[in-house]
Order: sequence, then structure tokens, then C-alpha cells
Amino acid sequence: MSEELKRVAAESALSELQPGMRLGLGTGSTARHFVDLLGQKVAEGFDCICVPTSEATARQAEGLGIPLSDLETLVQLDVTVDGADELDTDLNLIKGGGGALLREKIVAAASDRMIVIADGGKLVDTLGRYPLPIEVNRFGLGATRRALEAVLASHGAQGGLELRQSGEGDPFVTDGGHLILDAFFGRISQPEALSRDLLDIAGVVQHGLFLHLCDRAYVATPDGVRTLTK
Ligand code: A5P
Repeated sequence: MSEELKRVAAESALSELQPGMRLGLGTGSTARHFVDLLGQKVAEGFDCICVPTSEATARQAEGLGIPLSDLETLVQLDVTVDGADELDTDLNLIKGGGGALLREKIVAAASDRMIVIADGGKLVDTLGRYPLPIEVNRFGLGATRRALEAVLASHGAQGGLELRQSGEGDPFVTDGGHLILDAFFGRISQPEALSRDLLDIAGVVQHGLFLHLCDRAYVATPDGVRTLTK
């Protein structure tokens, strides 16, 4: 069911596409549907140039014959289409469940518009039920962790921090060679202040709060697609 809804959300985002666009391609199971659909359009002659937000998306897009570039060459994109782990009705997001948050944020920030595609289960009143991914440098992990615990406490986190593991039981390593600590807040009542406090920690590379970056979301529910616009 949720896979079908992800596909429906991805289909809705096709309406955002114009020939010749420079596109950011998101990461995750919902974005994967969008890349599949885009691949079909490209095979039919649709013209675009795309920047992927992860090695996994790059491999998928290459396999479909989607033309790829990077932000050294393009510097600015028209639209990025990506999934989210949580979104609220102000279009603030938690992302990074797939570990691609750093590249996803760089690509979204370099885009004129960011479109989110999601199934209805991702829509929440207040962000924070989904653990917030925080990408950290490997160096100084213990010290970074201690500084993060203080920030969690000052923001009323209901749980702690967990070093993300890969399937093999080793620490999960991002495309950028960093680690991820997942922070269990339960409820994030002051996302802007939390964002600043996290980025003030030297060992923090980036976090998964995407604030004021998303312009529109297509949220697929069993009753139809809800479009949320900034
Ligand atoms: C990848 O790092 C994430 O930000 C994904 O976009 C997010 O986790 C949503 O993934 P799904 O579409 O697989 O739920």
C-alpha cells in the first residue's frame, strides 16, 4: 500500500517538469520511483540534466540513461524532487533516514525549488517522532557525542543518541565518509533554535532538519493526493 502511495506521489511530481530543466534527484524509496518515471520520460526523448543526491541514485539514473552532471558544472538547479521521513504543514522536514542528508541539503539549497514526494504517513503536526539524523565527522566522535547530548537535553529530547549501524553491524558510513548519530527527540518544538545549536558543534557536519527549503509537497493518501504549497 505505502509503496503504491509512494509511486502515486512520484507521478504527481512529473507535473513540475519542463523540457531542458536542470534537476536534482533525491534519494530513498520514494525518490527511486520518481527516478524510474523520469527514466521512462528520458527514454521517450525528454531533455533534462540531473544532479543525483547519492551514489545509489547516481547508479540508478545511469542505468536508466538519465544524463547526469554535478554542482561544479551546473552550480544552480531549477527543481529538486526528493522524499522525506517527516514533513509538517509548514513544509519543514526531517530527512536522512537513508543517510544522504548532506548531499540532499546541498542539492536542495542549490535549487530554485524543492518538491517533496511522500505517502500520507509522513505528514505530522510536529516534527520529531522520527529520529533526527545528525551527520558527524569521524574524528572526535566521543567529544561530539557529549556536546550533542547537552543540546538534546536542553531541547527536551525524550530519548538519546544512537550511532547508526550498517546491515553488517559496522558503523554506517555516508557517501561523504562521515558517521550518523540518530537523535530521538519525540517532539521538536523549536526547530530553528535546534538547527543553530546543532550546527554550532564543531564535529557536526550537517543535520536532517530541512527548514524553509521545501516549496511544495505531494502527499499521497488512500483518499487522493494532497498538495501542500508554501
Ligand atoms: C535519504 O537520506 C532520505 O532523506 C530520504 O529522502 C528519506 O529517508 C525518505 O526515504 P523514503 O522515501 O525511503 O521513505
